[in-house]
Amino acid sequence: MNLSRRKKSHLFPVLMAASLLFGVLPKAYSQATNFKPGAIWPDNKGVHINAHGGGILYQNGTYYWFGEHKVGGEAGNVAQVGVHAYSSRDLYNWTDEGIALKVSDDKTSDIAKGCILERPKVVYNTKTKKYVMWFHLELLGKGYGAARTGVAIADKVTGPFKFLRSYRPNAGRMPYYPAGTPAAAQINAQHPANKSDVIFMRDFPGGQMARDMTVFVDDDGKAYHVFSSEENNTLHLAELSDDYTSHTGKFVRIYIGQQTEAPALFKNNGKYYMIGSGCTGWAPNPARWFTATSIWGPWTFEGNPCVGAGAQKTFGGQSTHVLPVSGKKNAFIFMADKWAPKDAIDGRHIWLPIVFNGNNIEINWLDEWNLDYFDKQPTQTQPSEKSK
Ligand code: GAL
Repeated sequence: MNLSRRKKSHLFPVLMAASLLFGVLPKAYSQATNFKPGAIWPDNKGVHINAHGGGILYQNGTYYWFGEHKVGGEAGNVAQVGVHAYSSRDLYNWTDEGIALKVSDDKTSDIAKGCILERPKVVYNTKTKKYVMWFHLELLGKGYGAARTGVAIADKVTGPFKFLRSYRPNAGRMPYYPAGTPAAAQINAQHPANKSDVIFMRDFPGGQMARDMTVFVDDDGKAYHVFSSEENNTLHLAELSDDYTSHTGKFVRIYIGQQTEAPALFKNNGKYYMIGSGCTGWAPNPARWFTATSIWGPWTFEGNPCVGAGAQKTFGGQSTHVLPVSGKKNAFIFMADKWAPKDAIDGRHIWLPIVFNGNNIEINWLDEWNLDYFDKQPTQTQPSEKSK
């Protein structure tokens, strides 16, 4: 007979009653019913969600949130632990699913503890049935000099993810010129026209720099990696291979020389949207958005999507992902990080609804809101003065 099990089953109700009586568990059991942008956001254990610069994958009724696990103090600005995963069915209440990708104790590994591993994004490949994680990687002790992208795969959504490789993409490849896009505006290989072109050609043989990033899977199953390249001067949008674990060499340059970071791409009613930020490190700056009718562009700069007080600083945040809400039309959540570089673990999550106003999008500050907000948005709101 298993005595220990019997003992446990007798003790359990007593322990539960005691913990409830002394208030040990209440946080873990109180269900959230709304979003409070910028506030502490407790997970199922009552701990502030530790998934920064993250993204969300939706599968079969469950959302999986992956992000940088931070520790306290400035030490948290480098990767001490890895990529943290959470799951949720309602988007308000999140269950800690542990570390999906661990940094390595082997100092010679590309993902050695103490490296910089930022903005992880996970997508699912229906052909290979693998989960694929891409991230921005900086090698241990090299500051932000390596500017590589890293990729890892897993059989199970919450991991463990196995690190595959890191590199600078598209070595020896020139940009693709979509029909209707003047080639000269893309790059002039012989006579680079501007600083960003010069950097592009410098990195042409070894591969292009890849820092702040996202991954987007289109309706046809093709996946794209969007990243800040050319010393953060220019965004690249690059096609991934069918198994999503490498680059095909086909890519375009977006908003050349204008320093866009923190890209987040989404699609609504057949149109592509991208939200990003300027380039001011951990400090907030005005967000910017772009539209395109083809993924290959041309991508049109549309100004700042944020409106009202705080719009010039993206309400203290920086974009990381735009989440389509399952089962609702025109329902997209703008996810941003309010960084805390002095105490990285205290970084806050700013989630706000995106409002579609004719051809425009708008993001307004809300102290508190829930998903019903989308049902009350028949897009009749008058376009407000845009803060460009
Ligand atoms: C930000 C970037 C972050 C991080 C930070 C470091 O601009 O978006 O992901 O790299 O710089 O200063």
